[in-house]
Amino acid sequence: MSIANLVMSSMAMLGGLAVGMCALSRSKRFAADSSQPARVCFSFLSMVPAMGGFFGIAWCFMGPPFGSPEISGPPAHHRNDPSRSVYFGNGCFWHTQYDLVVLEQEVAGVFKNRSDRDVTSLVGYAGGRYQSASGTACYHGLPWTDYSKLGHAEVVSITLDAISGPIAQAQISALAKLYFEHGFATVEEGRQRLDPQDTGAEYRNAIGLPGGMDNSELWPLIAAANTFAMPLVRGTGGNQDDTEDEYVVYVYDSLQYVFFRGEASHQFHPNTVVQRAVPSSYTNDLKQVQADMGRLDSTGCADVPGEVALLIVFCFALLIGLGFAVLCGVLPVGLRFWNRLYKSSVDDDARQPV
Ligand SMILES: *[C@@H]1O[C@H](CO)[C@@H](O)[C@H](O)[C@H]1NC(C)=O
Repeated sequence: MSIANLVMSSMAMLGGLAVGMCALSRSKRFAADSSQPARVCFSFLSMVPAMGGFFGIAWCFMGPPFGSPEISGPPAHHRNDPSRSVYFGNGCFWHTQYDLVVLEQEVAGVFKNRSDRDVTSLVGYAGGRYQSASGTACYHGLPWTDYSKLGHAEVVSITLDAISGPIAQAQISALAKLYFEHGFATVEEGRQRLDPQDTGAEYRNAIGLPGGMDNSELWPLIAAANTFAMPLVRGTGGNQDDTEDEYVVYVYDSLQYVFFRGEASHQFHPNTVVQRAVPSSYTNDLKQVQADMGRLDSTGCADVPGEVALLIVFCFALLIGLGFAVLCGVLPVGLRFWNRLYKSSVDDDARQPV
């Protein structure tokens, strides 16, 4: 979870608690008008929403979300043939996709000037160990399908013309050269992503290829392109591991750490994060061609804004706040009730003739 996300979620939680606690004066008034057994009963009942809210909050912040299965293979909604595709991630996937499309459409390039119909670059999520119960990984919104909670990073998948032989070698070399030379800027600490303002493991640098570091034909070509000597780490899957979001590159076996295509709204997107202008031939024409081909159709993800996650946190915190408001309003009276009961039985005992 990125710091900005954590701060906003915490604020939503505090807000929910605060609003819930506003019920305190009402619950005190209610307690004053109710019988003692009713107060005791309500103090026990108030634990139900409080506990529910507590587990809900834990569930919202927990990664992976409770009940998320481990990945068993490529998702049903894939469009790029997993056996011939690789992926690259270096921060926000919007600008990475543009870079790869430019390479695919380079007139004298290794992808031989791919037409808009032949472009394969697609943004998505990979590098995690988990998928949602419905077999998806989605953008931030619903906590139980959130790619970052499922351990994934933002990446871009691209399909090679072949997965071995001279064409594959030329294409992977060109991709790796572009990635290492233009995907980062040199700073004191090492090679930094172009969007250092994006923080969190979901922005970590990632490369995926069939076989990963054990691909004896293509991996050496990628390693050779690492002229700035970035640390290359064998990825073991988010979100327990692979948490460094800067300076290192995690390398995945793309057949094990499969690519989940991202939602249409993130494909061929303006490069707002790195503040780079991209032509409308990219954001409109190319996107339309790809959409018409069915490459951007539903990924099974609900199209909800990221703020919904904050609303869900708020609602669970509200339950905790309400539960505690009732408890705090009613419980002291309940305790007094029990005290009195206890005291009167002691008094009764004292009154017994010896
Ligand atoms: C490159 O592709 C574009 C669009 O598909 C096409 O119009 C153009 O003629 C191609 N250029 C070369 C040199 O093949």
